[in-house]
Amino acid sequence: MTRCDRTEAWAALAGHYEAHGRELDLREAFARDGGRFEALSLQAPEVFADLSKNLIDTATLHFLADLARECALPARRDAMLAGAVANPTEGREVLHTALRAPLGSAPHGAEVQAVRDAMLAYAEQVRLDAQITDVVNIGIGGSDLGPQMVVRALESWGDPGRRLHFVSNVDGHDITPVLARLDPKRTLFIVASKTFTTQETMANAQVARAWFLQQGGTVEEIARHFAAATTNVAAAAAFGITTTFGFWDWVGGRYSLWSAIGLPIAIAVGAANFSALLDGAHAMDRHFAEAPIERNLPLLLGLIDVWYRNFHGFTSRSVAPYHQGLARLPAFLQQLEMESNGKRVDLEGELLPFATSPVVWGEPGTNGQHAYFQMLHQGTDVIPVEFIAVRRPTHPHADLHAKLLANCLAQSQALMQGKTSAVARAEHAPTASATLDREVLARHRSFPGNRPSTTFVLDQLTPRALGALIALYEHRVWTSGALWGINSFDQWGVELGKALAGDLLPRLASGDTAGLDASTAGLLAKLRG
Ligand code: F6P
Repeated sequence: MTRCDRTEAWAALAGHYEAHGRELDLREAFARDGGRFEALSLQAPEVFADLSKNLIDTATLHFLADLARECALPARRDAMLAGAVANPTEGREVLHTALRAPLGSAPHGAEVQAVRDAMLAYAEQVRLDAQITDVVNIGIGGSDLGPQMVVRALESWGDPGRRLHFVSNVDGHDITPVLARLDPKRTLFIVASKTFTTQETMANAQVARAWFLQQGGTVEEIARHFAAATTNVAAAAAFGITTTFGFWDWVGGRYSLWSAIGLPIAIAVGAANFSALLDGAHAMDRHFAEAPIERNLPLLLGLIDVWYRNFHGFTSRSVAPYHQGLARLPAFLQQLEMESNGKRVDLEGELLPFATSPVVWGEPGTNGQHAYFQMLHQGTDVIPVEFIAVRRPTHPHADLHAKLLANCLAQSQALMQGKTSAVARAEHAPTASATLDREVLARHRSFPGNRPSTTFVLDQLTPRALGALIALYEHRVWTSGALWGINSFDQWGVELGKALAGDLLPRLASGDTAGLDASTAGLLAKLRG
């Protein structure tokens, strides 16, 4: 494997950036080329993508495709999909794609199908059980963010008679108000943890169990009111849980919503809709596996991410879903991208001489517009924005939807167009100071423009479309990670804090500060009850 910065294409890209890329002006590019939108947009399964408002031209894509070829991306993708050890630091295959593949078309088919059938049958049983009105998922990171995001996104496909709750934080302010609203006889707790050792999840599960018993539940009833999704079936059994759906070490936590970790999704929307979610993801998997680089949306997005991060030097990307149901998508994507690609050494352990994961952040539109879009339009940093627009809503308020879409379009337009000082000067601005120098005022009221964005369009936020969208992001993250030559599937960076918390926990009780740095010792003394 050749690391991206050691390829001829990388050098060619650097030359292209100096000659054209740095100065590319979107307004001029559109004026020059009437076919720019058609040339730089494409329809992938369920997701249409307009890439034309990005700081690229067809030559940029040509050099980026060369980079993908020189880094052997197609062969490495094929190897991963076929079950190669794509997570070498943990010696694991990376096969979340197998969780949504038809039987016989990917590794591990029989075991995947057996657990999925059992999990979906159980979900249907819970859905038919009128006594269970509340389902509480206790999990964190990948055992929380994916299911939580999807359940929220697919609310219109859910059963209004059942409430789904998500408890993740070890902060008791998370679980306490949830428990206060529950009736133990009507509640199912799902303990979701790949390892079944995560401190937060185990602590919250113990709190839930103790609460259940305090409220009159019996030890025998735990079997009916607790279920688990884990790779560590023995630990779930030791906890006293008899209904456990397993999965495997080749499913990364942040890629696990398609596995038994998706149980809350299946309970919320039913087996048919869960299967449609998997089908949508599989359709995107096929596109990722089969489309030529130049028409392969996840590959193109990952390549553009590298172009922005390593040539333009952009440090972050903002995600703006114009659909309230996708409110948790930015948080989900933060884990997906930053836990996957927040790495500083390559596969050989060599320190990287270039930047990797950008900061990923965002809020649903239009709310973000009234919070941080000011900075996107007039701040000193250029931050590519990713808009997600959905053509057909699942609510009856056509007027609200039209306003939402107009805002979405207007933001990408404004980021690109900007506003010159001359236009700002000529405008009547009713709220502007009448006494301030007009020239100074015009400078405050002008926008640089030429700020890049991508717009995705879904026809409707169906289970299938959402599955395709999430898989698109998964493969795009793989693409930039593979180009950078890093391991996108481990997360050693979370270990140190976990170990230090283990050391500090008894010190909070004892007050022992021996060997601590002065700051930590001082803070510990302040925080002790
Ligand atoms: O934060 C580290 C991490 O291991 C994530 O990768 C994972 O999604 C999360 O913790 C939860 O882990 P588990 O599902 O094993 O409880």
